[in-house]
Amino acid sequence: MSFAWLWPYVRRHRSAILAVMALAALTSALSAVQPYLSKLIIDDGLLGRHFHLLAELCAAIVALAGCGFALGALNRLLYVRVSGNILFAIREDVYAHILRLPPAFFRVRPVGDIVTRLDGDVAEIQRFSTDSVLAVVNGVLLLIFSAAIMAAMSPDLTLIAACILPLHLLLRHRARRQVSESTREVREWRGVITHFLVETLGAAKAVQSAGAERWERDRLGGLNQGLLRRVVRQQLVGYTIGALSSLLSHLTTAVVFIIGGWEVIHGSLTVGTLVAFTAYLARGTGSATSLMGLYTAYQRAGVSLKRVQELRDVEPMRAGGGGARVLAARSGPIRFQAVSFRYPDSERALFEGLTLDIAAGSKVVLFGDSGAGKSTLIDLLRGFVQPDCGRILLDGADLSDYDLQSVRCRIPVLETDPVLFRGSILDNLRYGHFDAPAERVFEAARQTGVEPFVLALPEGYATELGSRGAGLSTGQRQRVAVARALLGSPFALVLDEATSNLDAAAARAMHALIDRYFPQQTRIVITHSPDAVPRADRILALRDGRVIDGELARAYA
Ligand SMILES: Nc1ncnc2c1ncn2[C@@H]1O[C@H](COP(=O)(O)OP(=O)(O)OP(=O)(O)O)[C@@H](O)[C@H]1O
Ligand SMILES: [Mg+2]
Repeated sequence: MSFAWLWPYVRRHRSAILAVMALAALTSALSAVQPYLSKLIIDDGLLGRHFHLLAELCAAIVALAGCGFALGALNRLLYVRVSGNILFAIREDVYAHILRLPPAFFRVRPVGDIVTRLDGDVAEIQRFSTDSVLAVVNGVLLLIFSAAIMAAMSPDLTLIAACILPLHLLLRHRARRQVSESTREVREWRGVITHFLVETLGAAKAVQSAGAERWERDRLGGLNQGLLRRVVRQQLVGYTIGALSSLLSHLTTAVVFIIGGWEVIHGSLTVGTLVAFTAYLARGTGSATSLMGLYTAYQRAGVSLKRVQELRDVEPMRAGGGGARVLAARSGPIRFQAVSFRYPDSERALFEGLTLDIAAGSKVVLFGDSGAGKSTLIDLLRGFVQPDCGRILLDGADLSDYDLQSVRCRIPVLETDPVLFRGSILDNLRYGHFDAPAERVFEAARQTGVEPFVLALPEGYATELGSRGAGLSTGQRQRVAVARALLGSPFALVLDEATSNLDAAAARAMHALIDRYFPQQTRIVITHSPDAVPRADRILALRDGRVIDGELARAYA
């Protein structure tokens, strides 16, 4: 799997990244000088009985440490900013990409899985990059500086210490599969739990209605136990690697003390050099161990990166649209021409050679048994699914020539349960028509009967709605949806069982509203009770994948 797609994100910040690298090099160099100063303190100051030099060297140690901290802090700040910006840009782009995916994607992919990837996995990558990338730069530089100074002080001891390094590498390399696998399992399981929470909390009322609170709690308990088993395995893998690695480091120190001590006793090495050497060794092995640890962290972050990349690699919407034509803001003819369609996971074709003409500005009632394909027909019209063969013509032009966004905006669907979002009523009214001036929005709200109930709310149009529009009744949300449609100057308006939640009087009022404000527009009214729809120009029945027109359709009603 190639991570080349990340390059453009990094490239944008390359000067800041270069500054980070330069600062890191400077910090590491400062820190590498410290043990050498302690060698000078012991050999030249202490043993050389030169107090003035000793005091100066001590002052230098403090000054260098101070500079090192200041530079380190500055670098960290800069790096967190840069890495945060890179990762958030990735998250925003992947999110935008997901929003362009076809409905089929959301059906097969649990929303919890997507959320975990966009949230947990991106955070994991960020954690890795903020904590680790800087540590790699510092670690590598410190290791190089330490090794160079160590080699200059005592080549044979350096060689002995270096012999143990390949064992570290071997250990990390052998463990890499367990690391990736245990990490992937934990991340996937977190996705399952997030999905569970999103699904059940999003439908808390349904859970309460079924008296299923205990049942769901127990289900969460079961999922938690599954997660715990996986986390324990992941931790065990990490701990074992860390412990073995630290054992190897201790081994190196012990060997250096035995051989270096022997040399000091026999006068071929000064005490100061041995002390400084072990200090460099501690730094060197410290950075080698943390670099090895980073190798493990890199594998974990790699799992997360792949999971984000998988989302990014899902093909965007292929259905319908894709052209540049913008659908007109007034109605024109709609034509389904010999359209055949079958859902990919279904054996039977839903439509075969369906042909249907809807005249501009007409009001058409479409009814049929549940599952006959009414909503699918509208999804075809709005480019959410694509016909297997045949064409859909809007205003005489093929649907595939149109820009999908304009098609969906200009053919709004009023549903049984309109979707509103958390936010103010004003924002919800102009959702999809973000540039509409407030005055136009208020006018639409007045016309569609939204105003009376909004003004009765404590903060009027600024009243914040809860999740999914909580705070308004279904009928009120429907009115908001009608006002929204009015803002968009529709090419056609679809009512997909929009009145099924309303009592007979409210349903009549809703139809009157639609007829009054959209008299020139094509209206497609999907309903199970065609006789309750006033002033229809045509009545169509959908049956066995065909459209039956006129009186015959009435006979089925
Ligand atoms: N995404 C899908 N994948 C596979 N089959 C689907 C999918 N969506 C709908 N179907 C099937 O296609 C058929 C038509 O569904 P559709 O929702 O269009 O029916 P409908 O006429 O709108 O029904 P209702 O009156 O109940 O709303 C149904 O048999 C349904 O099971
Ligand atoms: Mg339907």
